[in-house]
Amino acid sequence: MSHEIIAIDGPAGSGKSTVARALARALGWAFLDTGAMYRAVTCEALARGIDVHDQAAVGALAESVALTTLPRVTVNGRDVEEEIRTDQVNSAVSIVAANPIVRQAMVARQRRWADEQQLGTVVEGRDIATVVFPNATLKVFLTADLEERARRRGEESPESVARRDQADSTRVASPLRQADDALVLDTTGRDVGEVVGEIIACLMKLHLS
Ligand code: CDP
Repeated sequence: MSHEIIAIDGPAGSGKSTVARALARALGWAFLDTGAMYRAVTCEALARGIDVHDQAAVGALAESVALTTLPRVTVNGRDVEEEIRTDQVNSAVSIVAANPIVRQAMVARQRRWADEQQLGTVVEGRDIATVVFPNATLKVFLTADLEERARRRGEESPESVARRDQADSTRVASPLRQADDALVLDTTGRDVGEVVGEIIACLMKLHLS
């Protein structure tokens, strides 16, 4: 790993994707939305009629599918950019993401992706600072009130958001957890530019120290 990595974790609707994308743009760095990868695998399992509780079958699928997240989310060449946000995927993704075989396959892909980048990277998810890149240059944990997080999720109901949070935080395989050395930012009522500015200020401070 020769370049810098900013790892951003947090629960659903904490602002990870928006902040991470804006931060990557401001720095001219590459960006990876790892949630889109778990969602794409979930889409493919559902499309093939695979029981999402069948760990061996979903695990084998995760190991073998071709995935892209940018410019569009695709799985085996099929564009699933819209499909990954459906209710069906929202309710199944945390089951797929709790599967240790799936996690191992996704983490390997995420590390390989980062190795291939020429520039710094911004990576967002649930286990980026704790498991995928424990040596990241900067670790950020975003939070926000449940009410605001549910509002940001738009179509997804507050119950569904709360259910995913509960499943993601209590699972055995890499639960959502704040890294001890993370910069913790509450994004409730704050705009994206302000949060991005705070992260860049922290990065600059690290560079100067
Ligand atoms: O956008 P939102 O925060 O609602 O979700 P997401 O980032 O698209 O992630 C969807 C789901 O994937 C989460 O609820 C987790 O179950 C799972 N996930 C994970 O387990 N590990 C990651 N690094 C990223 C997502």
